[in-house]
Amino acid sequence: MAVRKAIIPAAGLGTRFLPATKASPKEIIPLVDKPAIQYVVEEAVAAGIEEIILVTARGKQALEDHFDRAPELEAILEARGKRDELGEVRRLAEFVTLIAVRQKQALGLGHAVLVAKDLVGDEPFAVLLGDDIIDPAPGHASGLGQLIALFEQRREPIIALQEVPDDELRHYGVIRGEPLGDDLWRIHDLVEKPEPALAPSRLAVVGRYVLPPEIFTILEETRFDAHGEIQLTEGLRSLARLRPLNGYCVHGRRYDTGNKLGYLIATVELGLKHPQLGAPFRAHLEAHLKAGGKGR
Ligand code: G1P
Repeated sequence: MAVRKAIIPAAGLGTRFLPATKASPKEIIPLVDKPAIQYVVEEAVAAGIEEIILVTARGKQALEDHFDRAPELEAILEARGKRDELGEVRRLAEFVTLIAVRQKQALGLGHAVLVAKDLVGDEPFAVLLGDDIIDPAPGHASGLGQLIALFEQRREPIIALQEVPDDELRHYGVIRGEPLGDDLWRIHDLVEKPEPALAPSRLAVVGRYVLPPEIFTILEETRFDAHGEIQLTEGLRSLARLRPLNGYCVHGRRYDTGNKLGYLIATVELGLKHPQLGAPFRAHLEAHLKAGGKGR
């Protein structure tokens, strides 16, 4: 069965990004000229996803609104003859079916996935985490597209990996696995946010998953961790014991936009690649740095 549905957990409070996230959801903060969530939704659609299940929370209405019709705004754009802007605003409301469901308590990523159980039903599905933005390497499909292609070949659940430096391992789920060749790994176990000395490898999970529906039953049986959360990583550990679970080192540049430095790096690099803004932005940065950061 094709992977038609994707869960995007977006219920977090964004505490790593205060004060920007005090009154706005972090997923709506723009990266260059569009909200971070839009990159992730576009990646899912490019990978063939037909239905997005957004797991939100109180105070995050703006996320649904971004992908809804906006009649007042559309009327103004139309009256002013702003055809390009009007087209883009309408496209956002029409290019994918988006359903929102609320996670009523912040009980962890595994719990957020579980909240979407009935909306996914009995079929394989994808999960995309909004903090991870993947800019695919030239000639490669999107991050999720790379995973789905392998899932369709092998019919085995698969998650995205990337090698990270030792001092960053404590921010990720890290795998213990064996290489199957061509950047593919068989995952035997995972450790969530290990101290570097205890990490089983340097291969970190980077926020894209293609999973079978049985993960829901597994998550229902997964215990709360010491912080009172149900971790997706715990569910994946159980899944790996039951059937083959693969990891794939995705080809592309990944940005962790959930922290301030990662967000700044993503903004600059994606800004430099922007079709219209890239060239003048590069000229400005070069002149600015040449002037010792004192102007241009
Ligand atoms: C989550 C997962 C972790 C994964 C990471 C990727 O952690 O729990 O396994 O490596 O996303 O970004 P979070 O960043 O939500 O704490």
